[in-house]
Parts: sequence; structure tokens; C-alpha cells
Amino acid sequence: MSTRIGLLGIGFMGKTHADIYLKNSKAKLVAYCDSDPKKAAGDWSGGGGNLGDAFGKAFDPKTLTSHRTAAELFADPHVDLVDICLPTYLHGKHVIAALAAGKHVLCEKPLSTDPKEAQAVAAAAKKAKGNLMVAQCMRFWPEWEWLKQAVQRKAYGKVHSAVFRRFASTPTWTWNNWILNAKLSGSALFDLHIHDTDFVRYVFGEPRAVFSVGNGGKATKGGIDHIVTSYLYKNKNLLVSAEGGWNADPTYGFTMRYTVVFEKATVDFDLGREGKVLLLHKTGAKEPEVVACRASTGWADEVDYFLECLARKQKPKVTTPEDAARSVALVQAELKSVRTRKVVPFKP
Ligand SMILES: NC(=O)c1ccc[n+]([C@@H]2O[C@H](COP(=O)([O-])OP(=O)(O)OC[C@H]3O[C@@H](n4cnc5c(N)ncnc54)[C@H](O)[C@@H]3O)[C@@H](O)[C@H]2O)c1
Repeated sequence: MSTRIGLLGIGFMGKTHADIYLKNSKAKLVAYCDSDPKKAAGDWSGGGGNLGDAFGKAFDPKTLTSHRTAAELFADPHVDLVDICLPTYLHGKHVIAALAAGKHVLCEKPLSTDPKEAQAVAAAAKKAKGNLMVAQCMRFWPEWEWLKQAVQRKAYGKVHSAVFRRFASTPTWTWNNWILNAKLSGSALFDLHIHDTDFVRYVFGEPRAVFSVGNGGKATKGGIDHIVTSYLYKNKNLLVSAEGGWNADPTYGFTMRYTVVFEKATVDFDLGREGKVLLLHKTGAKEPEVVACRASTGWADEVDYFLECLARKQKPKVTTPEDAARSVALVQAELKSVRTRKVVPFKP
């Protein structure tokens, strides 16, 4: 039997998730709620996202139940899983309310911008009947999953260095421009860079400390637009860093990259390149090898994984609510390092 989905928030990410559910036979999209009267009436056009207005023509949102409030959606007996794609500052309280109503919950990242709230939500999830998974999509992104396995299997020996980079034009499409209010979104640090912070923890474990530099004021008032972090590990020969920013020119678009130097090879990922993962061996080969990964996205695969866990009545293990809360805490440590210009210890 398919899992019945109720979507909360039909913006960039809500529409992305809707498209994924419509293509996944394990799911049935049945209901939604959005506070925008136009979207509530079934017109999902406009706003940001890769689906644009064409999405409205591909399927008719009027075939779904449109709830006036989140509470109504949580009380809907035809909904098994609530998918929360609200602006970040609304995540915590809505996750807790949906779990209290007995639903399974998929919540967009970040779980919160406040480590204490994130911990409280994780604690609530532990006691809940339903499962909570936070959509830390990089853990499911095919080329990133490949990297995780290569590091874990020591496929090319030990890692000497890993550099992650995520850079974008300033996001301008969000509802009431909430994303450029640091108090509501946590700025580029919690919205964009947390993807890399979470993945660094996933692959290399908890760092002992962080050292970050960053600046702001161009895109986000009072927040961080651009950050560069070194994650400091017990092994001083392991260099791990991540750079993230969203203050590039509007014509710049989006880049997502990593370069990892192993003992016996170097791997390089570039989302915008035809062969996304290149493997460079010290074997005398003139051309780098293109690594074939499944053609999918972390967004589609995280949803599929959660649906599979629910069908098997298993708790998701790839990412847990405690994990999501620890990533929030690590980003908070990075923010403290930017503010103090000091190395900040990390004790999760
Ligand atoms: N995983 C990723 O790659 C990724 C990418 C983009 C955004 N996100 C995350 O997804 C979340 C949503 O971001 P977005 O870009 O879709 O935002 P958005 O502004 O495009 O969409 C938010 C939607 O929520 C609705 N809304 C606001 N308050 C509401 C309420 N109280 N009740 C019901 N509806 C309400 C708005 O009308 C809007 O349609 C954020 O937490 C963001 O960090 C994740």
C-alpha cells in the first residue's frame, strides 16, 4: 500500500517534493496546505524552483484536498506522512505538532537554526509513534554517496584532503523574502552551507573543532553570506574544508563541487559538468576516468529511502533526528568561530 502524503508549504521545495511523489509508486499525494490564498485555491504557479509554471499544467492541484491550516492537515485521517517544506523558522513547532498528531514526518533541512530547539525536536521524535526524517539530501545524492563509500572502503587509500564548495547567486524568490532575513533562515550558513557541514560529519565523523571565516551584509542583513570552514580532526594530516556562499552576481547561477585527494587517486565532482565525477589515478592514464553513478538526485532518493523505511516499518538510519540536530550544533560552532575569529571546540 502506498504512503499517503500531505504537503505543508508549496514553495520551491514543496513543488520539488510534489513532483517526486507524483513519480514514486510508493507514495500517493493526497493533501496539502499553504497559507497563500492563490496556492490554497489550487494555483501553484510562480515562485522559485526548477518546476516553474509548467508544473501547474502537468497535474491539477485541485484534485488534492487543500487544508486551510496546518492543524487541519495534521488532523486529516487520510494522511500518513506530513512533508514540511515551510520556511526554516517554522520547522520545529510544526514537526512537533505533526508528530503529536501521530504522523510520520519528513522535514526539510535545516531542522532548526537553534541547536536547543533541534535537540528538543529530536527528543520529541524519540517518543513519537511516527518516524521523523530530516531531508539532509547530500547523504543521498548519488555522486556523494559514491564518495562516502570510497572513503569508507579506503578504495584509493587514506584521504589527505577534502574540499567542498557550494556557491550561488542570491536567492530572491522566497515567500516574503524570508530567506534573506538572518533571524528567519540563519542566512547562507544554515540554509546552504549546512549541506556540506552535514556531509562532512557523515563521511569523516565529528571534528574536534572548527575554524571559520565569513562575511555578510551584501545579500543578508545581519547574517553570513559567505563562509570558509576548516574542520579540525584528531588526525592533523586530514585536511577537510568547506566553502559556501550566496552573494555571487545574479548571472552566476549555482555550483556544487568537491575535490578529494586520496593516497592513490584524486576525485573531482562538479554538478555542472557532463562527467560529474572524475577519477584521476596515478597510473599513467592520460584521460581521467568518468565515474558512472545512477541518474537521480538526492531529493528523489531521500524520499524513496524514507518511503521504503516506512513500508518495512524500519527507522531511517542514514540520517537520524539526532544527526540533524548535531549538524545544526556544528553550524552554530562555525558561526561562533566567524564571530570570535577563534578556533571553536565541538562537543556534540
Ligand atoms: N534540500 C534542498 O536542497 C533545499 C533547497 C531549497 C530549500 N530548502 C529548504 O526548504 C524550506 C522551504 O524553502 P523554499 O525555498 O521552498 O521556500 P519558499 O518561500 O519558496 O516556500 C515556502 C512556502 O511556505 C508557505 N507558507 C509560509 N508560511 C506558512 C504557514 N504558516 N502555513 C502554510 N504555508 C506557509 C508559503 O506561502 C510558501 O509557498 C526551507 O527550510 C529551505 O531551507 C531545501
